[in-house]
Amino acid sequence: MIDVEIGRAQSFLTEQEYGESLQKAKQAFETVQDEKGPGAEWLGWRSLLAEPNDAMIEQIDQLATGIRKDADIFIVCGIGGSYLGSRAVIDALSPFYGNKKPEVLYAGQHMSGKYLHELIDYLDQPNEEGQPKNVYLNVISKSGTTLETALSFRVLRQWMERRYEDSNSHIICTTSGEGGALNKLITEYDFKKFIIPDDVGGRYSVLTPVGLLPIAVAGIDIRSLYYAAVTAYQNYESEPQKIIEYAAVKNALHNKGKAIDLLATFEPQLEGISRWLQQLLGESEGKNGKGMFPAKSIYSTDLHSLGQFVQQGARTMMETFLQVKNIEEFLTVTEQPENYDELNYLSGRSFHDINKRALEGVRQAHHEGGVPSITVTLEQLNEQNIGEFIYFYELLTAVYCYSLDLNPFNQPGVELYKKEMYQLLGK
Ligand code: PA5
Repeated sequence: MIDVEIGRAQSFLTEQEYGESLQKAKQAFETVQDEKGPGAEWLGWRSLLAEPNDAMIEQIDQLATGIRKDADIFIVCGIGGSYLGSRAVIDALSPFYGNKKPEVLYAGQHMSGKYLHELIDYLDQPNEEGQPKNVYLNVISKSGTTLETALSFRVLRQWMERRYEDSNSHIICTTSGEGGALNKLITEYDFKKFIIPDDVGGRYSVLTPVGLLPIAVAGIDIRSLYYAAVTAYQNYESEPQKIIEYAAVKNALHNKGKAIDLLATFEPQLEGISRWLQQLLGESEGKNGKGMFPAKSIYSTDLHSLGQFVQQGARTMMETFLQVKNIEEFLTVTEQPENYDELNYLSGRSFHDINKRALEGVRQAHHEGGVPSITVTLEQLNEQNIGEFIYFYELLTAVYCYSLDLNPFNQPGVELYKKEMYQLLGK
């Protein structure tokens, strides 16, 4: 269950400002539902929940179960929308993956030769039983041509060919149905393939095989995750008020000149979720000279570096607090007789409680300093809440972008740097 609190943002708006934006947001929600807005051919992230694909979930689950029994390492090779979603969910629900089998590692998100070299070095080292590490590789690229992913895949594929006679049984490709260099490789080498639907863009693809296979291999229950998103889809179709009000407040703050949306959380486990949100929001709203730049901060860590600016710097930002209501109370502060560190006033209190009070204090101080904020609360950190959260923000992003008269599903600006880079590389 997700709760949204907009009061600390609304207090910066006049009734008229909020009222006008509310109208825009209502129309924007209808535009999503009617499938009449710009980019409507990219609404597949909704239809895949309207008509859940049980067979796909079953197929992914079966493959993941087999890999989990067999693998020491599972490499996710992809960039942007092809890896941010799975990493977000895995980090949120299974953070200490270093102790788990299989270990999920990432590649293809940059072109650092040093990183790839060290990764291969690590693959070459024996596992805890002194045996060669058993490795599976999932390359994920909708276009099949993305340079970072393709380069890393070339290197990792060569390693797999050296290691395994039947390397194709250890390589899984997730890509579009047709076209692209990756599909040529699949045909040539007979790699196992999952299809990314044509009508789902990269940043909206976490609930397709793009995200679901790595998430399942990490041991997370993808049925609960996926069907929680299905339920969220059904609920928000008939009761979209939470989405509409959130989009309205953001729209009004944008119109008042707020240029930065600082995604702030006190749970380090949610850093990946903030990164996923950065792409979802940033690529969707940052066009035509509009949008708020989605920045992220992990508190209280970043209060010791960015806190001064947030409190008293240029008043151009809003904050979005992401919090978890109920977390297991793992640690409690114990009494120490000498009390040299003068912390006995916290004795008996849990770390979760202290963290919660810190959030409340920070939010209040920033509000008094002129920073409007929205608080999004997950009841618990589990598959059900994260599944709802994913659909909640996908829908919110679409509605908010339509309220700004933007196409939420294209990213024309991403292509421009590629053109310059390819020219310099002599393509
Ligand atoms: O949102 C997007 O479309 C991008 O971030 C892509 O996901 C990213 O560039 C990776 O593209 P591809 O999956 O085609 O390799």
